[in-house]
Amino acid sequence: MNDNRSSFTGKIGFVLAAAGSAVGLGNIWRFPYLAAQYGGGIFLLTYLILSVTFGFALMAGEIALGRKTGLSAIGAFRALNKKYAFIGYLASIVPMIILPYYSVIGGWVIKYLIAFVSGDAAMAAHSGYFDGFITQTAEPLIWFCVFIGITALIVMLGVEKGIEKVSKWMMPILVGLTLIIAIYVACMPGAKAGISYYLKPDFSHFSVTTVLAAMGQLFYSMSLAMGIMITYGSYMKKDVGIESSVHQIEIFDTGIAFLAGMMVIPAVFAFSGGDPDALGKGPGLMFVTLPKVFASMKGGVYLGIAFFLLVFLAALTSSISLMETVVSIFQDKLKWGRRKTCLLVLGGALLVGSLSSMGYGLLDGVKIIGMPFLDFFDFISNSVIMPIVAFLTCIFIGYIIKPKALIEEVELSGKFRAKALFTVMIKYIAPVCILLILGFSVLEGLGVIKI
Ligand code: PFF
Repeated sequence: MNDNRSSFTGKIGFVLAAAGSAVGLGNIWRFPYLAAQYGGGIFLLTYLILSVTFGFALMAGEIALGRKTGLSAIGAFRALNKKYAFIGYLASIVPMIILPYYSVIGGWVIKYLIAFVSGDAAMAAHSGYFDGFITQTAEPLIWFCVFIGITALIVMLGVEKGIEKVSKWMMPILVGLTLIIAIYVACMPGAKAGISYYLKPDFSHFSVTTVLAAMGQLFYSMSLAMGIMITYGSYMKKDVGIESSVHQIEIFDTGIAFLAGMMVIPAVFAFSGGDPDALGKGPGLMFVTLPKVFASMKGGVYLGIAFFLLVFLAALTSSISLMETVVSIFQDKLKWGRRKTCLLVLGGALLVGSLSSMGYGLLDGVKIIGMPFLDFFDFISNSVIMPIVAFLTCIFIGYIIKPKALIEEVELSGKFRAKALFTVMIKYIAPVCILLILGFSVLEGLGVIKI
């Protein structure tokens, strides 16, 4: 439909660009703390099952939607059925909510990188260091501004291609480093119990919230249910295989998340013997645990510098992709120039992100439905809006345009081997499960039922 759209050069180009957006803090920071909090092995198993079923079907569907129409989320839904453009709008809200708080965490990564470079690695390993940092007002705010400032500068100058090039060779190094750290941790005394907690599913830990958390994490990590993959699909050439690309992105994304869990969770056991308080640490888990690992290692400071640098780059490629998306949505609507739109988005993100940044310190007393700002924004996007967008997307594909329309799109570049799985997931299993999970969690949240 849109001939002027530039395309990725080929399959490798597409997979790497999509993986650059997908692999980020979601894999390294968010996955391990959720897995630790929601019962280890049972969370991992739920996540893996969802990934090869829900994740596969939704990602293939979104990419095919984008490629079929040649348009981003709002345009893609509208082009296929005017009445459903609202799904595109709803999806577009998600990156707007995520970008500010994502950049707050990006700022935490910079803080740790600087601490390691400037010789404070040993201090960073002390318990209390992390809490002492995030409960301040100025420092987390400054690092947040630095992170989002760098992101905005790159988007404004339009030099993201250069950054992506760097990230392409950084990615394998990140995998290598994570592997080294995971192996080191596995050899620490006490780590075995952590490995078994992480790998052996304990069904007594299973609950609907496990599934909700795993589903939200899946969407977040694979950049689904927020219009991103539709946009990426719109840049994809017709002869590039959608099915095999999806498999590769999934393996890459899930592999890195799995390794990150192997690095963090057994370490929590090695240092605090699987104390539930330590496992339930939440957003701070990686920042509290890894400096201890580095401190216990010979040359750990250098490994720590390399690690935080690579996490910073992975976070940056993701935040660039988030900001790009938000900027292009506003640009399409307002018809403003790129720089002016960038400044508008930057201003908005600074305002909202500051709330998240100060939520553990100065604004500690302010809670939204019992949560600090950052946790609330994370919850509302991952556990509420994204499941709703995913549900609506399934209904749209399954019953409005019909799966056949997208299966034909996928088959432009060869056989669609999993088309039966795709159809059944999109039409029946995914929407029913999402509704049940959302329904149960709302009822639980309201205190009507106890699960
Ligand atoms: N998938 C990214 C992560 O796991 O860190 C987060 C993300 C990046 C979401 C870019 C959306 C996006 F556009």
